[in-house]
Amino acid sequence: MTYSLKYGSIGIAVLIVIIVGIIMVKQPSSAGPGNDKLPADHWQQPLKPQGTPPAEWSALEQSLKPEDCGQCHADKYQQWQTSFHAHAMSPGLVGQLLTYDTQSANDCLECHAPLAEQKAAFASARARGEGHLPAAQGLAAVGNSCAGCHVREYKHFGPPQRDTGVTGQSDPENPHGGVFRTADFEKSGFCAVCHQFPQSYAINGKPLENTVAEWQASPQAAQNITCQKCHMPDRKHLWRGIHDPEMVKNGLQATFEATKDKARFSLKNTGVGHAFPTYITPKVIMHAVALDAGGRAIANTAVTHEIRREVGYAGGQWLEYSDTRLLPDEVARLDLDWAGSKRIRMWLEVYPDDYYEKEVYGDLVEGYAANSPEQSLIKQAIARAQKSNFTLFETIVKKPD
Ligand code: HEC
Ligand code: HEC
Ligand code: HEC
Ligand code: HEC
Ligand code: HEC
Repeated sequence: MTYSLKYGSIGIAVLIVIIVGIIMVKQPSSAGPGNDKLPADHWQQPLKPQGTPPAEWSALEQSLKPEDCGQCHADKYQQWQTSFHAHAMSPGLVGQLLTYDTQSANDCLECHAPLAEQKAAFASARARGEGHLPAAQGLAAVGNSCAGCHVREYKHFGPPQRDTGVTGQSDPENPHGGVFRTADFEKSGFCAVCHQFPQSYAINGKPLENTVAEWQASPQAAQNITCQKCHMPDRKHLWRGIHDPEMVKNGLQATFEATKDKARFSLKNTGVGHAFPTYITPKVIMHAVALDAGGRAIANTAVTHEIRREVGYAGGQWLEYSDTRLLPDEVARLDLDWAGSKRIRMWLEVYPDDYYEKEVYGDLVEGYAANSPEQSLIKQAIARAQKSNFTLFETIVKKPD
């Protein structure tokens, strides 16, 4: 989700209404007693407090901290730590939350730090004037963590048992009272609560977050290649996406062709199970430029093709300005004439956080008081966003003789 001052206070109000609306219309998956489905309210927001842990549990079992889960699930903990879910309490988020009232902050935390205990911990840090300090945020600092997906009222939920496929409740004598295993963890719908907005908030037919719907229409969905199969292969808790050059490269096929007239760069979405990219926040640019005999770019020969969805709030409504993202199997092309040269350089630039950097953070830095904690957090966010940019597929195409 994005949040921008650019469109003024009406834009902000509309966005908050949208977010609150989303939280209210979230549809839990079907359930019933006695079967092995996820309880209907697993993702009903706001999540309920866990309550009191069984007194006979060890302190380790009672803990909701990821590092404590990691005492017994070390591999998952190590993987998760490297993921964006673990860093969802980011400077770009917290900087904004410091300026919100508690309810509005909690609305954002539904996806960024969803447990009731996390919201309480953040509110308490703010009340002490320490909301900006990760060390003071307690459980909130861990963002989208183990218990947010796996633990409800101290009951642990997970996918069918590895190797056996067994579902249902395991032995309550086991650590943390055993586990309730269900195939719902393997379905794309599990991710929807945070990665799909309802159709009723569409802009030009498409909600700002439309990943699950894009996936449903994809050839991958027809083959039951779920979000988890691509983003959690072998159940790894890595969730690599647009910020990871290898992940992006593996989802695309770049082809370079040379004829006597021109060079062509084609980019096909071969392995992204939704639009490339799925959100409005990244910007991707195909580049080509002719080179002189010394390998220097020749002035005025550069051409580009931008791949992104651009939206904005204007005249009292959200508008879509363009959508050149690549749906599964779609191809984008960029051509450049030789125009006297013999070589053309072609490449792809990826700016994963472009919208935040260009449309959100700059205005926030100006709007916030100089040297305030919120301003310094947003400055950190800008530095992070700039560091995330990368180049792929750089190639020099030679003119055929
Ligand atoms: C004291 C060690 C211990 C701690 C701490 C612990 N677990 Fe477990 N966990 C286990 C064991 C053992 C199992 C297998 C239970 C069974 O088969 O009944 C398990 C099973 C699971 C499963 C199901 C995986 C499978 O085998 O199918 C999930 C999910 C899970 N734990 C999540 C968590 C989370 C989240 C936390 C922290 C809030 C946590 N665990 C803390 C030991 C632990
Ligand atoms: C429905 C779930 C959801 C809600 C509610 C939500 N976000 Fe997000 N947010 C996401 C997802 C998913 C991403 C990553 C994709 C993207 O960049 O759009 C994200 C990314 C971000 C980022 C950029 C990455 C980072 O952490 O620095 C910021 C900043 C952010 N959100 C701020 C907010 C603010 C402020 C609110 C409340 C007004 C909010 N979000 C509410 C799901 C949500
Ligand atoms: C964003 C939600 C989410 C978060 C956060 C999360 N998990 Fe999971 N976890 C899942 C899903 C989904 C699966 C099942 C994936 C599949 O079947 O492909 C799973 C599977 C598991 C399993 C079973 C793995 C196996 O090999 O059978 C364990 C154990 C587990 N998670 C523990 C953890 C621990 C510990 C953490 C925190 C360090 C954590 N999870 C964080 C969603 C999450
Ligand atoms: C066939 C493999 C595949 C499937 C299925 C898939 N993804 Fe992706 N996803 C990718 C690849 C590759 C990327 C990196 C390129 C990109 O950002 O589009 C990506 C990127 C992302 C991103 C980064 C943000 C962005 O703007 O692109 C998010 C979030 C995401 N996927 C969520 C999901 C969710 C949720 C599902 C299920 C509804 C899903 N993905 C299904 C392969 C897949
Ligand atoms: C409780 C909310 C929540 C759930 C459930 C959730 N996510 Fe996320 N996800 C987020 C947020 C928030 C971010 C952005 C974190 C940030 O950068 O601040 C994110 C980021 C991502 C990314 C982006 C990485 C990148 O490069 O930008 C991928 C991929 C992703 N999630 C996949 C999944 C998949 C697959 C599932 C289901 C198994 C899932 N998520 C479940 C909230 C959630």
